[in-house]
Amino acid sequence: MTTPIRVAVIGAGMAGQAHAFGYRTASMAVSSSIAVELDSIVDPNVPLAESVAARYGFARASGDIDALLEREDIDAISVALPNFLHVDVLPKVLRSGKHVFAEKPIGRTVAEASALQALAEESAAVTGVGFSFRRLPGLAALAQAVADGRIGDVHTVRGWYYADYAADPAGALSWRYSQEQSGGGAVLDIGSHAIDAVQFVAGAIDRVDNATLRTVIGERPKPAAGAIGHGASASAEHGPVTNDDIALLSVGFESGAVGHIELSRIAQGVPNALGVEVFGTKGHASFDSISAGEFTVFEAGLTDAPYNGPRRIFTGPEHPYFKDVAAMPGGGVGTGYAEAFTAEIQEFLRCVGTGAQMDTDFGKATAMMQVVGAALESSRTGARVSI
Ligand SMILES: NC(=O)c1ccc[n+]([C@@H]2O[C@H](COP(=O)([O-])OP(=O)(O)OC[C@H]3O[C@@H](n4cnc5c(N)ncnc54)[C@H](O)[C@@H]3O)[C@@H](O)[C@H]2O)c1
Repeated sequence: MTTPIRVAVIGAGMAGQAHAFGYRTASMAVSSSIAVELDSIVDPNVPLAESVAARYGFARASGDIDALLEREDIDAISVALPNFLHVDVLPKVLRSGKHVFAEKPIGRTVAEASALQALAEESAAVTGVGFSFRRLPGLAALAQAVADGRIGDVHTVRGWYYADYAADPAGALSWRYSQEQSGGGAVLDIGSHAIDAVQFVAGAIDRVDNATLRTVIGERPKPAAGAIGHGASASAEHGPVTNDDIALLSVGFESGAVGHIELSRIAQGVPNALGVEVFGTKGHASFDSISAGEFTVFEAGLTDAPYNGPRRIFTGPEHPYFKDVAAMPGGGVGTGYAEAFTAEIQEFLRCVGTGAQMDTDFGKATAMMQVVGAALESSRTGARVSI
C-alpha cells in the first residue's frame, strides 16, 4: 500500500476549490496508484474554509497559514491566493521545504516571478505551477502532434482566451480589477493561460511586436465583505478599474514563427474558451476548449486530394491524461475543465511520489510573465519589446 501524501490547500476561493476538487478526485481513476490524505483548507475567511473542507472531505479548516507551515506531517501544499499575496506567502511555503503547487501567475511582475523562481530552484521539493489548460487531453494531444512534426515547421500561431466573467458592469470590483493587486487584467488573468498554451505548442515567444490593451468598463461596485470569484455586487459605492478588459498581442517566436494572441474578459456569449491554432509547412492543427473533447489536424497530402481535409479527432484513452481522469474508459465521453484539475493535481502528486520536477515549473511561469511584462511595456511605449 502506497503511503498517502498529506495535502493542504491555502486559499478557499474559486481556484482553491478547484484544487480541493483535484485532490479529492486524484486517486479515483482505476489506473491511478496515488494515495492522498486530505488534511486542511486554510483561508483567513474561516467559515469559507470550513465549508470548502466539508464539501471536499478535508479533515480540518483554519485561518492560520504559519501554523500550517510549522506542521511536520504536511507533505504538499497548494497555494491559490489573490496575485498580490503570492509574494508574501509563496516564499514562506517554499522555505518550509514542503512540496508546492502554486496557482498562476506567480506574483504580479517579472521581478516577483523571477525572485520566486530563484527560491523554488533552491528548494529540494517539487515546485509546480497550475497551468491547468495544458492538462486537457485535446490540447496536450495537439502539442504532441506538432512536436511529432505532423504539420511540419510552424510559421503562424493564433492563441485566444475569450471569457465573459467581466462583461456585467455590476461584477464586483475584486482584486482582479486593480492593476496594483493583480499585475494585469485580461492580459495576465486569462492571458497567462493562453500565453502558456501557445508556448506549450509552438515554443518560446521572444518578442512582443505590438500590444493593444483597453478598458471598456471603467468602474465597478465595491465587493461585499468575504466575496470570492466573479459575482455581482449591489453596492452603490463604485471604484475605478485600473487594468485591461481586452488585450491584443502580436508576437514573434524563437523559431521564427509569428502569432497573435487575443484576450478578452468581456466577451458576451463566450463564457470561457481558450484556443490555439497553428499552421505549419505541412498542415495545421487547432483546439478550442469550448469543445474540449476534440481537436483538429490537417496533414497535407495524407490521402487523395478529393478526400484530404482537416480531421476532427475525438479524444480517448490513447491521448495524454485521458485514461486517468475520464469517468468511463472509452473515447468520445469527453473531458472538460474539471478533469484538467484532476489531471494537474495527479501530475503534481506523481512528481511528489517520484521526486521528478513538474513540466509546469516556476521557470515556465516566469517565461509566461516575461511575455506579459513585454506586452505591458509595448502597450505603454508603442515599441517592439524583445524578451
Ligand atoms: N487555473 C485557473 O483556471 C484559475 C482560475 C481562477 C483563478 N486562478 C488563480 O488562482 C488565484 C486565486 O484566484 P481566485 O479566483 O481563487 O480568487 P478568489 O477571489 O475567488 O479567492 C481568493 C481567496 O483568497 C482569500 N484571501 C486571503 N487573503 C485575502 C486578501 N487579503 N484579499 C482577498 N482575498 C484574500 C479569500 O478569502 C478567498 O478565499 C489567482 O492567482 C488566480 O490567478 C487560476
